Amino acid sequence: MRPIRIALTKGRLEKDSVNLFDSMGLETEAIKNKGRRLILSVSDAGVPVFEVVLAKAADVITYVEHGVCDLGVVGKDTIAESGGSFYEVLDLGFGRCRFALAGPKGTDFFAGYHSRTIASKYPNVTRAYFGRKGMDVGIIKIEGSVELAPLLGLSDAIVDIVETGSTLRENGLEVIEEVMPISARLIVNMACMKLRKTEIERIISGMESHLSL
Ligand code: PRP
Repeated sequence: MRPIRIALTKGRLEKDSVNLFDSMGLETEAIKNKGRRLILSVSDAGVPVFEVVLAKAADVITYVEHGVCDLGVVGKDTIAESGGSFYEVLDLGFGRCRFALAGPKGTDFFAGYHSRTIASKYPNVTRAYFGRKGMDVGIIKIEGSVELAPLLGLSDAIVDIVETGSTLRENGLEVIEEVMPISARLIVNMACMKLRKTEIERIISGMESHLSL
């Protein structure tokens, strides 16, 4: 049988995930010195415990849904946008930020009845948010630096991730309304959860007892 595999979102969530594994007393040198390798082994006292697969956020969900990875660490932002069939078992408490509706400082977004255009990397989250409000808006998908869209006159506002708020501030934008809090989540493939219950539950409870919430 192959080792248990955890798909880990590269970048922002990677370091916090490694810190969590460290606090569990696991050996993470392979991840820290990974070079360009994408599959790394994590051990406990020299005995391999699981493999870590480094992937982009949306791909973490794909690998877990298909069962080629048993577990995944991914942001609630990606889960909210992509959806999918898996168990979301733990809020890992790191990678905290929020989705917000933001627009040019000092403008009243909700005033008047004209149609509005929203730019976002997260069209599904945006559609659901305005759907809940009963507002019909046009949505334009942008791949990055969404803050540019209202500055260039492409949209009235954006729905995007806000962490420190500096990107908004430095570009003359402000939060109009919070949409949803975000943090990293541990997800599990539904079939793997049954087939390898004992091993997976041991990892989940190991992680849970070392969370700094
Ligand atoms: C994210 C997000 C904001 C910024 C928010 O972008 O889309 O632009 O971080 O962080 P802040 O509130 O601390 O300023 P990211 O850095 O992932 O780049 P991208 O927009 O080009 O994808």
